[in-house]
Amino acid sequence: MKIAMIGTGYVGLVSGACFSEFGTEVVCVDHDADKIAALRRGEAPIYEPGLADLMARNADAGRLTFTGDIASAVAGADAAFLAVGTPARPGDGHADVSAVYDAARAVAAHAPDGLVIVTKSTVPVGTARELEGLVHREAPDRELHVAANPEFLREGAAIDNFMHPDRVIVGANSERSRSVLEQLYRPLSRLETPTVFTTLETAELTKYAANAFLATKITFINEMADLCEAVGADVHALAHGMGLDRRIGRSFLNPGPGYGGSCFPKDTSALIQTARGAAAPTRIVEAAAAVNDARKESMAHRIAAHCGGVAGRTIAVLGVTFKPNTDDMRAAPSRVIIPLLQSWGATIRAHDPAGMAAAREVIPGVTWCRDAYEALEGAACAAVLTEWNEYRNLDPARMKAALAEPRIADLRNIYDPASMAARGFAYRGIGRITPG
Ligand code: UGA
Repeated sequence: MKIAMIGTGYVGLVSGACFSEFGTEVVCVDHDADKIAALRRGEAPIYEPGLADLMARNADAGRLTFTGDIASAVAGADAAFLAVGTPARPGDGHADVSAVYDAARAVAAHAPDGLVIVTKSTVPVGTARELEGLVHREAPDRELHVAANPEFLREGAAIDNFMHPDRVIVGANSERSRSVLEQLYRPLSRLETPTVFTTLETAELTKYAANAFLATKITFINEMADLCEAVGADVHALAHGMGLDRRIGRSFLNPGPGYGGSCFPKDTSALIQTARGAAAPTRIVEAAAAVNDARKESMAHRIAAHCGGVAGRTIAVLGVTFKPNTDDMRAAPSRVIIPLLQSWGATIRAHDPAGMAAAREVIPGVTWCRDAYEALEGAACAAVLTEWNEYRNLDPARMKAALAEPRIADLRNIYDPASMAARGFAYRGIGRITPG
């Protein structure tokens, strides 16, 4: 089998490298010549554990190559995956699929007979069906197929998610599409991974429904955490108790400052637009998105309240990325919380193990520090915004010595309230019972 992977962003690169690990010949294509040159040198443009090794191993074996030339990439290929960006369109929340259409056109222009063009990026319901029309118009002389195969990769765990998925979803409406996708994922059969073969529209909607459900689950526990605080209950015990019900499950019941990243905010808003457009509004998802937006702001108020006001004081922010093990700043709660604190007169010192380069571009006026202890120096409060492991293991005595006032606003519940209180910190977590 040979495939072309169009787009070497997060999804394209991870999927391409993983398919090559399955033994498939993979040609990754990007129009950014600098990026292709870097990839050929073995440099991974994104921070993803395990990716650089996987790329090196398969490039050495000759199964994974990089090019700027679509024509040579699709020559002799069985499938071409479209993994280009679908950013939210400014203003209306719809996903911008113009790059997907451009890629499909370019592929169709050079496609061999029988090629299956597969959407891998998250695309609005109806996109694959429209692509069918488009590629048939572009290449009326050839038999081309379109399939939908949404990805379910989590940043920081993407390689493992691809190699050990809970399921594979394939929207296919021809025997050729079905058999090509079946063969490509055959290495997963030893894991007995379920594959759901369905229609193009159902496959596309399954991806949105899954992300919207997870976003709602997080929003639900965030509201429960606030309620726990109001009535003197503990959200960890509550999540544990709820999660033991196998119909609910414990995962994604960790309260925090609101979900961020490149997927949940974008996908919920695209789903909301699709549903409104189809006159079948998803009121639960609309509420979750609105509650999540408001939550990011309310977290700044929480920090300020814990400090008794922040004007003229220094706040140390630990972690700025939307979650740990990534350098991704997209829709990170820190991008709302830090500017608000600054607008109230706070001085911000901050640290992040991987995100500071990206953060500098999007959050101005911050003193970026080499490590957590340096960030804490002279601060009235340590505010934990991202649950990096290295913050879990900080020495409380050193933290106390560095801070001007021993105060912690732990928006990720990485510390134990009782032991922090026992060490003399004014500690506030999310939905926890705080002693004293
Ligand atoms: C998410 C989904 O988890 C993947 O299954 C999906 O494939 C991906 O989007 C996508 O559509 O491409 P990702 O955005 O990488 O993956 O990150 P998650 O680990 O899901 O976290 C998203 C946000 O939710 C983060 O801000 C995280 O801090 C927050 N979160 C997550 C919580 O606040 N609490 C939780 O219990 C879990």
